[in-house]
Amino acid sequence: MTRTAVNDGDATSRHGKTGAARPRTERHLPRWSELRPLLRPRPVELDPTKRRLSRALTVADLRAVAKRRTPRAVFDYTDGAAETETSLRRAQEAFARVEFRPRVLRDVTVVDTTTTILGRPSTLPLAFAPTGFTRMMHHEGERAVVRVAEGAGIPYALSTLGTTSIEDMAAAAPHARKWFQLYVWRGDRAAGKELVERAQAAGYEALILTVDVPVAGARLRDVRNGLTIPPSLTLRTVLDTALHPRWWLNLLTTDPLSFASLTSWEGTVAELIDKMFDPSVTSRDLSWLRETWSGPLIVKGIQHVDDARMVVDHGADAVVVSNHGGRQLDRAATPLEVLPAVVDAVGDRAEVLLDGGVRSGADVVAAVALGAKACLVGRAYLYGLMAGGERGVRRVVDILTGEIVRTLQLLGVDSVTRLEPTHVRLRP
Ligand SMILES: Cc1cc2nc3c(=O)[nH]c(=O)nc-3n(C[C@H](O)[C@H](O)[C@H](O)COP(=O)(O)O)c2cc1C
Repeated sequence: MTRTAVNDGDATSRHGKTGAARPRTERHLPRWSELRPLLRPRPVELDPTKRRLSRALTVADLRAVAKRRTPRAVFDYTDGAAETETSLRRAQEAFARVEFRPRVLRDVTVVDTTTTILGRPSTLPLAFAPTGFTRMMHHEGERAVVRVAEGAGIPYALSTLGTTSIEDMAAAAPHARKWFQLYVWRGDRAAGKELVERAQAAGYEALILTVDVPVAGARLRDVRNGLTIPPSLTLRTVLDTALHPRWWLNLLTTDPLSFASLTSWEGTVAELIDKMFDPSVTSRDLSWLRETWSGPLIVKGIQHVDDARMVVDHGADAVVVSNHGGRQLDRAATPLEVLPAVVDAVGDRAEVLLDGGVRSGADVVAAVALGAKACLVGRAYLYGLMAGGERGVRRVVDILTGEIVRTLQLLGVDSVTRLEPTHVRLRP
């Protein structure tokens, strides 16, 4: 027990100058009765996935786990963006420039994260974005993601480049809000029409037309890693097997990795896009789609106010302000910066969603305050999937939910629907 208080710095220096005797601290050996209450060993978690996931407190933590657990080419395919990756970096920097303007003395004991997306309830202002080749990240793939979306009460969009069929995904989560994302095939509108009809028959709620892929973006990490779909067995990948045996075992012992909505393909992603995707798609195709699809129609990849007006004039019910997570045009417009003008231009006629660089619940809150109805996340849930399959995706939802709730409380706002532009400023 300390019997004499240790002096603070000022007093010590005074003593130093005057040469007076320094006060002594009497010490004794630690006693068991004092130590015992301090010993609180954490319960040992024997399930390694649970242990990994519970230690991850942020999406960035999950990204670090994902990086360790997947082959480099797979991680880079997910994590990477086009060319210098400036579009992606700027999207994240824009969120870092957000300055919240909290209000105080508001009762925030309970905050409400629910909202509506496309006129239907959603527990969070959040949806899982369409991502291709999802079973490459983790063998549970789209089924895992849709089950989490179902449990969490948020929408999930299956990509045309998905690795689970429209029907299988519907069967995996019959009550999930399922959207289907369409790319228009070169010279083959009939193939697109067939997919749309299958989605409608399988109970998909909305159709997303992605419009920012006239040609493939230059994803240099993929070129450098020699990534092909399905992954090829080269000297490098064979060496990688030793580092990630579980990933390779899962790949080789589950359903072959292939595109569910495409006849078989072997080659690089860029070759696939350039061969199959139609660079001549225009607003005429949007009108065609509007006639073909009777449910809500979302256009994803809007980066200009005039384009937002144009697609809404052609029947879009919602737009996603997005540059494809920086995977297409490098140095493209930054979604968070474009958002307010798009909301001004079409917000009274269509819902405005946003994606690109969303890595935390605070990012979601900022985008909603600036007028987005909800955010889509891509990499965030994929990091979770790579880190721990379905449980990893659930962990992402838990992390984002906790962050959204805490940010709202600290902002003095009791419901996401009461967020306003005045709650946020983008620092120059
Ligand atoms: C690995 C990966 C695959 C993607 N595949 C598609 C796709 O097939 N169709 C599509 O419209 N967007 C695709 N995207 C873009 C996402 O839908 C979304 O716009 C983007 O991921 C948002 O950025 P974020 O990852 O920073 O959240 C993909 C994104 C990633 C990371």
